[in-house]
Amino acid sequence: MLCGLPLAWLLLRLFEIGDFGLGANPIDELMDRLGEWGLRLLIATLAVTPLAVTLRKPWLMSVRRLLGLYAFTYLALHFLTWFVLDQWFDLRSIVADVVKRPYITAGFTAFALLVPLAVTSTDRWMRRLGRRWHRLHRLVYVAAILGCVHFWWQVKADWREPAIYATVLALLLGWRLRRARARSRLAKPAPASA
Ligand code: HEM
Repeated sequence: MLCGLPLAWLLLRLFEIGDFGLGANPIDELMDRLGEWGLRLLIATLAVTPLAVTLRKPWLMSVRRLLGLYAFTYLALHFLTWFVLDQWFDLRSIVADVVKRPYITAGFTAFALLVPLAVTSTDRWMRRLGRRWHRLHRLVYVAAILGCVHFWWQVKADWREPAIYATVLALLLGWRLRRARARSRLAKPAPASA
């Protein structure tokens, strides 16, 4: 319910229920809010494992898929708002934007990487893919990095907000790197002399 609240609020504003509206540039406002919540939920998904391990609360892992699918939902709506409301299905202009505007290229690549992750998020796909599932789902790191780059490249002057997202993401990926190194050190057989 919490993850759905921003979407409900955006729908209220979209249909101007009460005195709330989306302002002078409704499409930009919709794009920005959907993109922002999509990125926040994607980073929240990556924060689950460090939190569950550090706080010793393994049950937290059960919300990871929910957060991931919500992140994908917001970003799919972000993409559709651009594709339908901003570009009016104009494929020539869409391809030109994706090819020529680096921040759109980064956003598009990030979204394209998230599609197979959303499709394979079911228990059935996890069983079917086995170890390959975990390897495939590491793409979420690349998608999150590209999402931050996409945000950073489009801000005109004030880079503070994308910098906050990038810093939090760097900390979460740094924690994983450190953990992977500690694990590989543990896995190494002790030298004969020892
Ligand atoms: C096909 C994919 C995508 C397209 C075409 C796209 C396009 C855009 C556009 C045009 C804007 C600027 C709207 C404006 O003029 O203000 C924007 C903003 C944004 N997008 Fe994307 N985007 C895509 C994917 C993504 C993905 C995958 C993420 C996150 C992982 C993301 C996160 C954001 C954020 C955070 C903003 C800025 C919000 C703000 O300024 O407050 N986008 N996107």
